Amino acid sequence: MVVAAAVQRLTLQCEEIGDDTSTIRSLDWDRSRFDIEFGLRNGTTYNAFLVRGERTALIDTCHEKFRESWIPLLKQQIDPMSIDLLIVSHTEPDHSGLIGDLIDLNPDIEIVGSKVALQFLVDQVHRPFKSRAVKSGDELDLGINPESGSHHRFEFISAPNLHWPDTIFSFDHGTGILYTCDAFGLHYCSDDVFDRDPGAIAPDFRFYYDCLMGPNARSVLQALKRMDGLPEISTIAVGHGPMLRHHLSHWVNDYREWSGQRSKGENYAAVCYLSQYGFSDRISQAIAHGISKADAQVQLVDLRATDPQELTALIGDAKAVVVPTWPTTPDSELQASIGTLIAALHSKQLVGVYDAFGGDDEPIDAVADQLRSQGVKSAFTPLRIRQLPQGSDYQRCE
Ligand SMILES: [Fe+2]
Ligand SMILES: [Fe+2]
Repeated sequence: MVVAAAVQRLTLQCEEIGDDTSTIRSLDWDRSRFDIEFGLRNGTTYNAFLVRGERTALIDTCHEKFRESWIPLLKQQIDPMSIDLLIVSHTEPDHSGLIGDLIDLNPDIEIVGSKVALQFLVDQVHRPFKSRAVKSGDELDLGINPESGSHHRFEFISAPNLHWPDTIFSFDHGTGILYTCDAFGLHYCSDDVFDRDPGAIAPDFRFYYDCLMGPNARSVLQALKRMDGLPEISTIAVGHGPMLRHHLSHWVNDYREWSGQRSKGENYAAVCYLSQYGFSDRISQAIAHGISKADAQVQLVDLRATDPQELTALIGDAKAVVVPTWPTTPDSELQASIGTLIAALHSKQLVGVYDAFGGDDEPIDAVADQLRSQGVKSAFTPLRIRQLPQGSDYQRCE
């Protein structure tokens, strides 16, 4: 079914993609505009999904520019009060733009996402909401759809840095569909719901990978490893562009190969930050930029969102590690992450410290001393920024 939207060059499309599963695709045909992520040469789509078991889940929403047409179309598909759960793959506004509207329509809806995503959402929607935090291995059972007899049971995979720190993938054991939102996506707008014409989309698939996923190639490999532990995947339902079904193994192999090449035997610096803490993520990006100008590889690591196993691997394999100051009274999870970080450091690494400017930081010298007690060499004298960071400070970090 194709429904014309009120706004020119924005259209909507609803299609079945599996048992009890439909996609609501918002087609944004504009080819010349620049969006938040990068230039859209062939427009883009924002894909949401409805999965109906005994209970019903919506996966992601849409960019707010589709509000006027998306909400009425959703209401045609389902009474918003009968959507029990909203799974949030990550909280970037191109997919989360209408979550507030949805909460207004159904204040009882339970929002499922990573812990970090739920924290981000509090500041985004400014409304109270019910929530459930999930991580790798957690499950969500929607029960059996009475008509099809299919049992829809989600299993989640944490996929931090693909490309936001709060990203999760959701696998429906009932259909074999893996929902990955930005990962494996591409900015390509057409009426084709699936990847029927791989030649047409391959260049944009590659371009998107290079811009958004390549810089986090190690995290891509971690996510692929977790995907390998799932039963057979029938379809990757992406948040942008066509669903990957007919040439699925081809696309997954591309990710494996490109990420393997990018991270193979390369020395890299792990630049750590704390999402939503002080100026840590902006400063970490300036530092990462500076390191990559020196032709070295960088892996950004969010100390709040990265699970212990991945943190140990990312820190342990790095040639250099850059660490922000942390709060004097970290919560228990952050405390555990700091412990994991310190345990993963070894004497062959260079380590640097920067001031996160969070307002309640452990003094930078105390942090540096703790790291030095692990016998690590220091890469630069601790970076001190005395006032609120300004442009010149970011340059200094580079
Ligand atoms: Fe995104
Ligand atoms: Fe996106």
